[in-house]
Amino acid sequence: MNNRVYIFDTTLRDGEQVPGCQLNTIEKIEVARKLEALGVDVIEAGFPISSPGDFKSVVEISKAVCEPVICALTRAVEKDIEVAADSLKYARRKRIHTGIGTSPYHIYNKLKSTPEEIIERAKAAVKYAKKYVEDVEFYAEDAGRSENEFLAKVVEAVIAAGATVVNIPDTTGYCLPEEYGAKIKYLCEHVSNIDKAILSTHCHNDLGMATANSLSGLINGARQVEVTMNGIGERAGNTSLEEIVMILKCRSHLNLQTAIQTEHIYETSRLVSRLMRMPVQSNKAIVGRNAFAHSSGIHQDGVLKSRENYEIIDPKDVGINESTIVLTARSGRAALKHHMDLLNIELDNDELNEVYDKFLKLADSKKDITDDDLYILAGVKRAHLNRNIKLEHLQVVCGQSTIPMATVTLNIEGESFTSSATGNGPINAAFSAVKQLIQKKVNLEEFLIQAITRGSNDLGKVHIQVENKGSIYYGFSANTDIVTASVEAFLDAISKIR
Ligand code: KIV
Ligand code: ZN
Repeated sequence: MNNRVYIFDTTLRDGEQVPGCQLNTIEKIEVARKLEALGVDVIEAGFPISSPGDFKSVVEISKAVCEPVICALTRAVEKDIEVAADSLKYARRKRIHTGIGTSPYHIYNKLKSTPEEIIERAKAAVKYAKKYVEDVEFYAEDAGRSENEFLAKVVEAVIAAGATVVNIPDTTGYCLPEEYGAKIKYLCEHVSNIDKAILSTHCHNDLGMATANSLSGLINGARQVEVTMNGIGERAGNTSLEEIVMILKCRSHLNLQTAIQTEHIYETSRLVSRLMRMPVQSNKAIVGRNAFAHSSGIHQDGVLKSRENYEIIDPKDVGINESTIVLTARSGRAALKHHMDLLNIELDNDELNEVYDKFLKLADSKKDITDDDLYILAGVKRAHLNRNIKLEHLQVVCGQSTIPMATVTLNIEGESFTSSATGNGPINAAFSAVKQLIQKKVNLEEFLIQAITRGSNDLGKVHIQVENKGSIYYGFSANTDIVTASVEAFLDAISKIR
């Protein structure tokens, strides 16, 4: 059996179904181009019959992207298929993804149909799609809860009708990895024409098993895996692209290969998170902020001796510059010395021991040990940097038919400085004013505002990442006023610049 695994990315279709994550066409093109650079094989660009916006996005993505197959979703309905075919007219390589429910729930409760009729409708949809495109993928919705014997009949019928790929979705995220793998194995062994099509996995994460199920499907014979960046998707999400790809890369004994350029993973993850306003949880595998951060003394010492002691992936493989050694009360001398070296502070053994004792006391009472703290602990005076920057005053003017403007007063090392700037919104204007005062070239890399609850009187939490001379600095603040929270988070990040 061929060992190449095709990556079918559905961030722009299943991923985009998440409430509040909708993208406009320009943003979708940006994501699609990034997915192309990442090396995905198929981009599911939308569900064209569902809205004029989705139709337009499929059209524009088809024009903007050359290498991957562009895929459009339909129900097993002629009109859907016609509209999908029309939306794909500019695609260099195109696929229609059509299908129908095959579980007892879908057949009897949702579609009010019979198994025999489902097989006929499935065949008819594939044959109809074949009139427009050569490459037709069929999905057996809720295959995870479908009977294997019936599923095999459906799969055989759609392959005979011309399906090139057959998708076996665990739509409700119900299967156990063994069950899902056994289902794929059963189909490989009981569908007489299975060699004429590729089986695809499409797993949802309702019980946290999407990645395990997809992997089990691949091990048992599927050769396409349907995924989203950061695992976003309906409810608890879909299988995450970065997890599957890195499992296959890391566990090479599985002998399954993708064409993904893994060093683009992190920036693709950031882009999707930023455009969809969907923060990535800190402990998310592969792309979470803490995925390569070490905080306990034993681990830090181990990583500093040799990265492989506590890391199974080189962060550079996914596009992250280096592992992070976070200073906490559990850090050891090795971690403290590592940070002092980064700050060019030389300490002999006695000095290090002395500073380490002071550091432990401080770390017990302070959550976040900054570079400033280290300078003070080591008794180093720093003259000119943007330390101790405080927001003294912030005033914004904005509203309909007004050019947003902000006036900011910062207290830098005890002295007050004021500046005003305009922008495309109050936050943008305030950031421009801050930039004029701090005289440092900083690029905003990531900016996320989160509400803690859903109330309008809620605290806004702002996470920011800025770039300066190739290094990334993180800032955070929370305030009921989101412009103030944004400026404070911006200053928090800036104040960490070495
Ligand atoms: O989860 C699912 O069943 C789907 C299909 C429409 C492919 O997303
Ligand atoms: Zn789905």
